[in-house]
Amino acid sequence: MKILLLAGDGIGPEIMVEAEKVLAALALPVTLDRALVGGTAYEATGHPLPPETLAKAKAADAILFGAVGDPRFDNVERHLRPEQAILGLRAELGLFANLRPAKLFAGLEGSSALRPEVASAIDLLIVRELNGDVYFGEKGTRTTASGEREGYDIMSYSESEVRRIAHVAFRAAQGRAKRLCSVDKANVLETSQLWRDVVIEVAADYPDVALTHMYVDNAAMQLVRNPGQFDVVVTGNLFGDILSDQASMCVGSIGLLASASLSEGKQGLYEPIHGSAPDIAGRGVANPLAMILSLAMLLRHSGHDEASAARIEAAVAKVLADGCRGADLGGNMGTAALGDAVVSALNG
Ligand code: NAD
Ligand code: IPM
Ligand code: MN
Repeated sequence: MKILLLAGDGIGPEIMVEAEKVLAALALPVTLDRALVGGTAYEATGHPLPPETLAKAKAADAILFGAVGDPRFDNVERHLRPEQAILGLRAELGLFANLRPAKLFAGLEGSSALRPEVASAIDLLIVRELNGDVYFGEKGTRTTASGEREGYDIMSYSESEVRRIAHVAFRAAQGRAKRLCSVDKANVLETSQLWRDVVIEVAADYPDVALTHMYVDNAAMQLVRNPGQFDVVVTGNLFGDILSDQASMCVGSIGLLASASLSEGKQGLYEPIHGSAPDIAGRGVANPLAMILSLAMLLRHSGHDEASAARIEAAVAKVLADGCRGADLGGNMGTAALGDAVVSALNG
């Protein structure tokens, strides 16, 4: 398997080093390559997703991605901002299905922003559509008739886009507790009404899965009131972005949530759900566990190596059960110490 490592910006390179330690400890027959991405690539080449990086991404079996984003480039033209690198990879590689699991690790009951008995029940999977929605519609700023500036971003979903993510979500539910909650805003948005209609059509193929629907505002509330009610959640690009950051604090820290972004073909990109965390970058305090768990997802989904994926996840669970904590979880272990602890747990 050919893996492309794209470390990116901010804490990206710091946490990537720890995932590489874990990969090295597994001694798997993989070939590694690296390329520049994000603000780092923009600085070096003038583009956040240089052609060489995109070509390497297309040639790889799987991509392990750190994070992009650099406040120094927040005001450059939008198409040159660091974030365009990850959006470009998602679009160019057709990575439409984003899986973001959230489960409470034993020992973190007291670290959740929720009460321990509420947090303990969390074991959910957010299936976020990643190639459409307001993210990829026409956007711009224009001048209204009265001479004001007006920004706009068009939200839309075609039925084929909804159908393919719905199939992914129903299949995921079949492999779990067989409950699927589709989250939308059909009481207000036409885009959401079509979303809901198409999800209901697709449900006919999955009589064994119990489908429910929920408005996104209620879903945000239910995620903190009673998150244990959710098994698989399927939702659009924007709602999924927001709900997954929220889910992360329900299980203790955004530094714990990994993700897989999958295409219809064999390719996958794997990354933590968090960003480049410029506020803590360079200090060696970032939590590398989301990055390490993203490597586990890579080995499971692209490497078809369930044993290695499960081994990494068990090592992370052991490290947390043993009380290892970084600053995000109220402890004082640094990035490298946490990575080393996972490597020892792998071998122990
Ligand atoms: P962020 O996720 O980078 O950080 C939010 C907060 O969580 C910060 O206080 C940060 O220190 C903390 N945090 C994040 N990851 C952590 C970790 N592993 N360990 C400990 N603490 C962690 O979100 P933001 O601050 O809104 O965005 C910063 C930059 O990252 C922006 O440029 C944004 O566009 C970008 N971003 C990129 C991605 C990506 O590459 N996929 C995702 C989200 C945000
Ligand atoms: C994420 C990030 C990205 C998104 C940004 C960096 C484009 O927040 O992966 O969750 O909004 O999808
Ligand atoms: Mn996000």
